[in-house]
Amino acid sequence: MKTLLIVFHTHGVKTAQMAEAVARGAQDALREAEAQDSVRIVVKRCPDAGAQDLLEADAVILGTPENFGYMSGMMKDFLERVFYPCEGKVEGRPYALFIGAGQDGSGARSSVERIVTGLRLRKAHDAIICVKALTPAVIEACETLGATFAAGLAIGAL
Ligand SMILES: Cc1cc2nc3c(=O)[nH]c(=O)nc-3n(C[C@H](O)[C@H](O)[C@H](O)COP(=O)(O)O)c2cc1C
Repeated sequence: MKTLLIVFHTHGVKTAQMAEAVARGAQDALREAEAQDSVRIVVKRCPDAGAQDLLEADAVILGTPENFGYMSGMMKDFLERVFYPCEGKVEGRPYALFIGAGQDGSGARSSVERIVTGLRLRKAHDAIICVKALTPAVIEACETLGATFAAGLAIGAL
């Protein structure tokens, strides 16, 4: 069985709603394909996630708000905790990123991308950045992201 890990953090609401949409999209895709037994979906907030979660994941989707032009402190804490235990052990695994931002989001994106590039994770989807209010289009994009990862893992095409 493959594992899709979704790790996110927020003190607010929007990024959590994006995480829910990613997970929902993944679960729906597996249900439609009757492939629930082939992919395990693990959703954790950053403080609850650690190196073992990443080592066991065949793909990972990270979610963070943009705070002060950077990823959230808890996402940075997660990446700091997992970096050395996972360095050299997760190379090539696919990842994607979603960001809840006020008006930009590029600082959060570049800060996460710099670190996961150091882990040699492989970007498998463009970052989803939601500026201002969460719209149905962004929710759908998050659901599609989850579905793409889950279905890709299920058929070995990610
Ligand atoms: C402390 C703090 C710093 C922020 N800094 C930025 C920023 O640098 N750029 C930006 O676009 N939005 C910034 N924002 C706005 C949040 O990214 C935005 O409100 C986002 O929707 C929060 O998502 P959430 O509901 O998941 O917390 C900041 C918000 C807070 C609370």
